[in-house]
Amino acid sequence: MKVTPWEVSGEIDYNKLIKEFGTEPINDKLLARIKKHTGELHPFLRRKIFFSHRDLNWILNEYEKGNKFFLYTGRSPSGQVHIGHLVPWMFTKWLQDKFNVDLWFQFPDEEKFLFKEDLTFEKVEKTLYDNMLDVIALGFNPKKTKFLIDTKDAGLMYKPACEVAKKITFSTVKAAFGFDNSFNIGQIFYTAMQTVPAILPSILAGKNIPCLIPHAIDQDPHFRISRDVLQKLGYYKPASIHSVFLPPLSGPGGKMSSSDASTAIYTTDDAKTVKNKVMKYAYSGGQPTVEEHRKKGGNPDIDVSYQWLTFFEENDKMLKSYYDDYKSGKLLTGELKQLLVDKLNKFLEKHQANREKAKDKVKEFYL
Ligand code: TRP
Repeated sequence: MKVTPWEVSGEIDYNKLIKEFGTEPINDKLLARIKKHTGELHPFLRRKIFFSHRDLNWILNEYEKGNKFFLYTGRSPSGQVHIGHLVPWMFTKWLQDKFNVDLWFQFPDEEKFLFKEDLTFEKVEKTLYDNMLDVIALGFNPKKTKFLIDTKDAGLMYKPACEVAKKITFSTVKAAFGFDNSFNIGQIFYTAMQTVPAILPSILAGKNIPCLIPHAIDQDPHFRISRDVLQKLGYYKPASIHSVFLPPLSGPGGKMSSSDASTAIYTTDDAKTVKNKVMKYAYSGGQPTVEEHRKKGGNPDIDVSYQWLTFFEENDKMLKSYYDDYKSGKLLTGELKQLLVDKLNKFLEKHQANREKAKDKVKEFYL
């Protein structure tokens, strides 16, 4: 297994990641504490899709004292948004609503430019706009949400980025990200830019404000560095809450890839494409023949359609009945796939309509 911000491969053992990265698991006590404030738990919390954190208890301590936090997350524009990308953003939207807090959403439009040999800024700019539509479509409140675009907001970000960069050695970056001497100096500097949004609201307000970063676990190496450096610079260490990856359609191992259509469903896929992809590619835990399936039952724990339903079917009772029926052989693979297709298409129909409406709103989110 390999998990870095730029590469995820192999079969992922999330408990092992907690140990390797040195994060904390989200336990029932912490869930109960969150529930006290939110009234209900998001399915992503109930199902341990958000499974790990740093300093979440501290964020809640401060919140209970009246010291509100802000949220920070981001997306490096490159290629199309797939439904796996939406997972942390949907959860961020829920946190924003439940705690009534500001969100700073970073679009580091230089990141993938620096990391991908053949990517031009021209191409990045197009995907940036396109990616912003997906974020807005999730319903973020423009009055409480700010988009930070690295090349556009560089004037504001560069000074704090240098403060941060001055405290990070090349050997720290090498160790955290697995870089060697062949990496370009933009790549080496980049992590400083991803740290800045964790303090920019504090700098602008002239006082320290706690920061909570919801993100997929692969981004943790950045924020491990941020926490170390920001403390030295006199800021709070940012807290974080970490999600697993939506598994690739084609089976266990790695995460969905924007560049491999057989592993991912894009937010712009039409209903027919969704159905074709799921029917053709979704890795099945079923038996080779209907007779055998009826007799022995399927394995929902490795079945990707079932795994995806744990992300998209909010109703716990329905989900449990799918699990039980698939396991007993009552529910066939084709039927389970169809349940997923219906769920995804309902979700995407709404998302795509909101995405159209988002076209008039982009500027409202700019700084
Ligand atoms: N590096 C992230 C990506 O590749 C983008 C990003 C920037 C981000 N800031 C973030 C992700 C904060 C999560 C939280 O898409």
